[in-house]
Amino acid sequence: MSVVRLPVVSSTSPPPAARAHPAAIVDGDPRDALVDRFARRVSYLRLSLTDRCNYRCTYCMPDDAAFRPRADLLTFEEIVDVLGVFAELGVRRVRLTGGEPTVRNGVVDLVARVAAVPGIDEVVMTSNGHRLPELAAPLATAGLRAVNVSIDTLDPARFAAVTRRGDLARVVDGIDAAIAAGLEVKLNAVALGDLNGDEITALCAFAWARGIVVRFIEHMPMSGGALFDADREVTAAAIRAAVEAAFGPLRPSPPRAGAPRGPARYWHLAADPGREVGIISAMTEHFCDDCNRLRVTATGELHACLGHDDAISLRDVLRAGGGRAGLVDAIAASVGAKRAGHDFQRSGGGGPSKHMVMMGG
Ligand code: 5AD
Ligand code: SF4
Repeated sequence: MSVVRLPVVSSTSPPPAARAHPAAIVDGDPRDALVDRFARRVSYLRLSLTDRCNYRCTYCMPDDAAFRPRADLLTFEEIVDVLGVFAELGVRRVRLTGGEPTVRNGVVDLVARVAAVPGIDEVVMTSNGHRLPELAAPLATAGLRAVNVSIDTLDPARFAAVTRRGDLARVVDGIDAAIAAGLEVKLNAVALGDLNGDEITALCAFAWARGIVVRFIEHMPMSGGALFDADREVTAAAIRAAVEAAFGPLRPSPPRAGAPRGPARYWHLAADPGREVGIISAMTEHFCDDCNRLRVTATGELHACLGHDDAISLRDVLRAGGGRAGLVDAIAASVGAKRAGHDFQRSGGGGPSKHMVMMGG
């Protein structure tokens, strides 16, 4: 696949005007509505099921975060309608996120309904793992293919502190239940020096003992920078150096055919290609130029980029009776205005005011 190099857009430039798509939609391929100004084609949607979470990770949300009233959330019917339109436009893969998606009432039923939307080939989830001991098997039966589970530390006291109410033993059980249920499992750890800077290799060993991969995520300055501290930075290069010091040289893993792996870049041990580590380096090694995703929040706001507050409310379009045509127009406008990339700065500036918990990670 050729890599699209993006023109430089000033970080202070206003969002570009939405591109009009009607001709393409009426006369051409409806999937052109999902190609942006930089020739990036969207095929992947992250859909948040709730802005609530049973944890309160310190780097993700303030302890007293206010949640939206339930009436503001997209209903299951609205979710299926919205996904039907995205699928018609070419979205093939949906990731259910939160907050914590498993705290949405009826999540197993919803997975089954999402998996049945014509055109959606793959339904996956990102979870904190707390409810997976009970839910992994029913979710797999309902049609879930894979789950990414967040586990930032293997130390129970650190885990309790960073999540403010988490239970490490449950999450480990949840990971094992998901593997046993046949889900493809990946682990996510936000790399923060004082939290897990000394656990990079332990987290690798934990994943490899289960035959799975851990991805380390550089902390991104959401929340207007309020939860960000540049002194905690662990760079992608430092992560690779830590792994190499313990396990020997790393080699870049080739992209896998047919398996879009998103912003994570994968490396494997030269001595054992089966032992892989992923790094999501939003801050020090940008990946916006092959971004293929959109995000819909639990309240139906469509965000073309995680790094900006710009959004269009699909819920308002639906509830105003806009129907399929209204959704197509709103989606095309959002994609037409998709920014070149985020403007995150390593000092903590440049990000959106929204908390990560609202945006679904
Ligand atoms: N920067 C990077 N990753 C974050 N996550 C939550 N907040 C941030 C942030 N500010 C992670 C969670 C989860 C994933 C969805 O996003 O830990 O693994
Ligand atoms: Fe919840 Fe995930 Fe945010 Fe932690 S990082 S508070 S588990 S949404």
